[in-house]
Amino acid sequence: MAIVPFLLSPSFDPLIQHNSKMDILIGLQWGDEGKGKIIDLISREYDIIARFNGGANAGHSIYHNDKRITLKLLPSGIFYPHIKNIIGTGVVIDPVALQAEVEQLQDCLSDANLIHRILLSVKAHLVLPTYKYWDMYFEESPEYRTIGTTKNGIAPTYSNKILRQNVRVEDIFSKDFEAYVFQILNKQYAELQALGQDMPAVQELYDNFLEACNFLKKLQITDTEIFINEALSNNKKVLAEGAQATLLDIDQGSYPYVTSSNTIASAACVGLGVSPKLIDKIYGVTKAYCTRVGNGIFPTEITGSLADELREKGGEFGSNTKRPRRVGWLDLPALKYAAMLNGVTDLVLTKADILNGMSEVPICTAYEIDGETRTLIAPTFADNVPKPVWKFLEGWDAPLNKINQQTQVPKALKLFISFLEEELKIPVKYLSTGPQREELIILG
Ligand code: GTP
Repeated sequence: MAIVPFLLSPSFDPLIQHNSKMDILIGLQWGDEGKGKIIDLISREYDIIARFNGGANAGHSIYHNDKRITLKLLPSGIFYPHIKNIIGTGVVIDPVALQAEVEQLQDCLSDANLIHRILLSVKAHLVLPTYKYWDMYFEESPEYRTIGTTKNGIAPTYSNKILRQNVRVEDIFSKDFEAYVFQILNKQYAELQALGQDMPAVQELYDNFLEACNFLKKLQITDTEIFINEALSNNKKVLAEGAQATLLDIDQGSYPYVTSSNTIASAACVGLGVSPKLIDKIYGVTKAYCTRVGNGIFPTEITGSLADELREKGGEFGSNTKRPRRVGWLDLPALKYAAMLNGVTDLVLTKADILNGMSEVPICTAYEIDGETRTLIAPTFADNVPKPVWKFLEGWDAPLNKINQQTQVPKALKLFISFLEEELKIPVKYLSTGPQREELIILG
């Protein structure tokens, strides 16, 4: 299949007709909040699920028929035959990773047709194979900052996008594409070799990349922003799916220890080409505690045996990289900041089951900085790490994953939820009680 020119229906007037609005779901902390499970669950109600940022550095984990599946680039609606899954313009696509993910999922689900449910933005940028090695070079060179990236070539792709030197999905249809890629790979390869970077043979990188680009042609490649806008005008339900999370946003997060894309709700408008006036619900997902991968500030971090216990109990190891995550307690000032940036309308609380059995649950309610107490804070502390002010709420002890009704939620957990709702002035709509699909209680 070549580029699918999007055929507008004759009655579609994008400036006057929008019969429905788009919802957005984002993470409110440093990622790994369990967004994948929630999107997978609520996606049944939608016609379109659209990824708007990041690349194969994300890793939503979803249980499907008792199998744990990690999605890196594919939107989480991929399991449902009625859903179109869009990889939008703001996403950076590694063709080799996408081919592997699609083929693996086709095998795993015995569903060769899922390929027809994937749409790629013609304007999305491609991750060249050499970019991974640039990523490694910057990450591992003593002269540069170590950020703690997944070394998937995401930052070099976004950098080259801004430099206007990148290749986009549309370029794979150009007659000069192969020659251009050959030339740019050889040039970058020589530069990396001169820097002492270890790599497979350049021909191997080139061949694998081109094979995967040919595979992309089997997917529907189109103007996804027009597709979404027309869908909204036809009263279809669209959910924008965020990867990574708010405090990793390249502009508003804890720079430089952030991801390379915008992760906050407004980035969904940019990355998908949808007007801000067409946004309805904004779901913000938070764990009942906090984790972080990579370097950077983390004022509520805990260490030692308590941290090891929490990490083990919560399975806090990267879904792609298996790296142990840093762990700590819930950070309310940072959560308020995240709720403010995103304009969250509905909260989703995950992993309260991991705190089960604790006599008291700590929450950081404020920070002390230079003798002042602050209850809302942006993650820009430089060398001045703030001191958390703690509140201890009563713990709960009940097999949460066996509970499926609001009335069965333990009293102490209800109080924890009410506390969050009062502090953030946002209702908790969903309470996730375990990793499995059915382990969820609708509260609101
Ligand atoms: P990123 O986009 O990389 O930030 O991923 P994510 O937010 O989708 O989170 P990820 O899937 O990497 O990690 C969350 C893990 O927690 C997964 O293994 C989920 O199955 C699991 N999980 C989600 N909700 C819950 C919950 O309420 N309780 C427990 N115990 N596990 C959960």
